[in-house]
Amino acid sequence: MVVTIVAGGQWGDEGKGKIVGYLSLKDHPAVVARAGVGPNAGHTVYFGGKRYGLRQVPCAFVNEKCRLLIGPGTLVDPQVLLKEVEETGCGARLGVDRNCAIIEQRHVEEDRATGGKIGTTGTGCGPANVARVRREARLASEVPELRPFLTDVPLELHRMMEKGGDILVEGSQGFGLSLIHGTYPFVTSKDTTASTLAADVGLGPTEVDEVLLVFKAYPTRVGNGPFPTEISQEEAERMGIVEHGTVTGRRRRVGKFDFEMAKRASMINGATQLALTCIDRLFRFPPTRRFENLPSEAQRFVREVEEKVGVPVTLISTGPDIWDTIDLREGRR
Ligand code: IMP
Ligand code: MG
Repeated sequence: MVVTIVAGGQWGDEGKGKIVGYLSLKDHPAVVARAGVGPNAGHTVYFGGKRYGLRQVPCAFVNEKCRLLIGPGTLVDPQVLLKEVEETGCGARLGVDRNCAIIEQRHVEEDRATGGKIGTTGTGCGPANVARVRREARLASEVPELRPFLTDVPLELHRMMEKGGDILVEGSQGFGLSLIHGTYPFVTSKDTTASTLAADVGLGPTEVDEVLLVFKAYPTRVGNGPFPTEISQEEAERMGIVEHGTVTGRRRRVGKFDFEMAKRASMINGATQLALTCIDRLFRFPPTRRFENLPSEAQRFVREVEEKVGVPVTLISTGPDIWDTIDLREGRR
């Protein structure tokens, strides 16, 4: 039985959705629980020729045998959730914790009116977390439309652990957006590291076996705030890298890999493994599943990350499709 947390090492948008999609099809975890702030996150997964940008439903929906959960620490916007349930057809295997706090329309309006300085996603997450701290938030148990999905996520996870099933926790956002460890005040409304992701779904620190920290080969950031290794938009364009946010459609700022930040993110998350994504876009080569097929400079980059961060790189994403993945875990497990 293995409990794994997937967390973001930069400013979100590291490709956690793709990694969770891959792990759910490859490893067949019994349960995948979504953690993190809420529908401010957009996790993208390409499956069956279709692109899904999911803000609430775990990306593990691609494995029809996975039970899908949303932990009590994660905010739920019922409208966003119900739309995704329809789009993915996952309703029969989805569970929403009774204690998830609810994003109301007024939270969205307040966020849009006041979030400009930080460049928030305008999805109501900050104001909803404020309401929760004030002990004024409505909980999922009080929302009639959510009744078919209500469950006790911590209890479900612990029952599954007793039965010996593997558990995957799908974190959202990234280290630099953490309210505690990130670039305050240009951060999200909660801590985003593995400890809080565990708490979001009701797991204790001693129950977690693996923390898989995800880095994009070139970090990106949407919204305002410090970005020490940022490059100009023109330089990014010359490298062929132009990206837009999944949730807001805003153009992402682009930078060079920040080894110092990666090391600190790894330290504070307690990372046991690293995943590197979008390496094909930085070094420009076609998708492959074999390390030997990587261009030599890409191989050197992977080794440099391992050496400087001091944690093994176990997964390398070389294309958008779930199976465009180099899996170096064999022999480690
Ligand atoms: P908020 O979380 O909407 O309050 O936004 C606060 C900051 O976090 C802004 O810079 C957002 O762009 C950023 N942010 C929040 N969630 C994500 C995410 O999932 N990916 C990328 N940036 C995010
Ligand atoms: Mg995203």
